[in-house]
Amino acid sequence: MTEKNYNSLFEQQKNYVSQINDWNNEYFKLNGKRRKFYCLTMGCQMNAHDSEKIIGMLKDMGYDETANENEADFVIYNTCCVRENAEMKVYGKLGWLKNLKKKNPELLIVLCGCMVQQDTVIEQLNKTYNYVDIIFGTYNLYKLPELIATRIETGSQVCDIWKEHGEIVEDLPTVREYKYKSSVNIMYGCNNFCTYCIVPYVRGRERSRQPEDILKEIRELVADGVKEIMLLGQNVNSYGKNLETPTTFAQLLRQINEVEGLERIRFMTSHPKDLSDELIEAMRDCDKICKYLHLPVQSGSSNVLKRMNRNYTKEHYLGLVEKIKKAIPDIMLSTDIIVGFPGETEEDFQETLDIIRKVRYSTAFTFIYSKRTGTPAANMEDQIPEDVVKDRFDRMLNVLNPIIHEINNSQVGQVLDVLVEDTSKQDENIMTGRANNNSLVHFEGSKDLIGQIIKVKIVDNKTFYLIGERV
Ligand code: 5AD
Ligand code: SF4
Repeated sequence: MTEKNYNSLFEQQKNYVSQINDWNNEYFKLNGKRRKFYCLTMGCQMNAHDSEKIIGMLKDMGYDETANENEADFVIYNTCCVRENAEMKVYGKLGWLKNLKKKNPELLIVLCGCMVQQDTVIEQLNKTYNYVDIIFGTYNLYKLPELIATRIETGSQVCDIWKEHGEIVEDLPTVREYKYKSSVNIMYGCNNFCTYCIVPYVRGRERSRQPEDILKEIRELVADGVKEIMLLGQNVNSYGKNLETPTTFAQLLRQINEVEGLERIRFMTSHPKDLSDELIEAMRDCDKICKYLHLPVQSGSSNVLKRMNRNYTKEHYLGLVEKIKKAIPDIMLSTDIIVGFPGETEEDFQETLDIIRKVRYSTAFTFIYSKRTGTPAANMEDQIPEDVVKDRFDRMLNVLNPIIHEINNSQVGQVLDVLVEDTSKQDENIMTGRANNNSLVHFEGSKDLIGQIIKVKIVDNKTFYLIGERV
């Protein structure tokens, strides 16, 4: 693929962008105010990053952003379907939007993201929510200007869901949530088909961006003030396998580490089955790679892991953790855990508690298993009753939280390098930032520190964040 070739895909959208700009300028002339959009993002960092592109395009088209959904002329929900409650929330909000549309018939309602990639959802939308104006999926984000123009011209609903991915479209306008840190996609999709997970069905097969495109984007971000990047992929450890000139993730990291002016590199998500020695060595050698690794375990029981199709055992995972801790002694580990997978016995659950105690995570994202239609696990026997799962979930937190507290206690008295991100929502004089090991740190300071990496001495531990003082 040549650069000229794939850039032209977004080039084609530029006519629509100017058409919608004219339409929005006309509105401004008549009404003295600009049309406003409200964007709700659900789900993972991949979706959050997609929303940055959506917001970039909408601003390019002459819309202003509002945080007040009630006053919006354009409402877009970037949806998630990994767990059922995210979908329920969308349906609930769509009911509410129907009333908003009664008050403002010009309101455009747009749904996109993972949820609408499912046929059952489209059926439901057609049946009950036919007032949604535009629907598009995960593969054709870049077409948003064209879809809006079509909706305006035809006056009818536009639904454009692709079943498969097309080319990777580069160079979309993007508005970053933070000035000093940014996410960068390195790959899309997933080939793993964990039996509980809907992602491979809604995000398609693995495909990697060219290393030179990734490096170009990172250099541009750094030139624009970014100090920390988060490399995103469902399974970054298998980056580059499908490229014409295969490149490993470790090789990519070593190249990124050379980018002048960049200070910190983070990445997610790593799959334990593909985490290579080469990667551990790169993490050890590259000074910009943060001493933090998110390594989802999902369950501590090898039996359950097998039925989850995770392709590793408890012993393999513990072996990896040992290797990583040996190579990078002060690394912090975090994880994802699912409780209540079909057939999970009390013994299986005890194995999960055991692995938590052995690994000692600094953070864990814990989930109750959610049955997703279309995945193999949805048809498995022995779905676990709700009360049993809730009880296990609580018992798991009782094991996890004291460990998180202890790990944070061990940081009290230490001086950490903190990238200052923002003021605290509660108090303007309190700044928040992240240490290299991803610990969240609050300390007294002023706004002019935002974007700087400064030394902070940790003086107190509040379990989910640390209190520090500037030194
Ligand atoms: N139910 C509960 N949690 C799930 N995850 C993915 N699918 C499901 C599901 N059906 C969790 C996994 C994954 C994280 C992003 O979401 O732990 O790592
Ligand atoms: Fe889902 Fe498994 Fe792929 Fe992660 S690796 S996105 S959990 S299928």
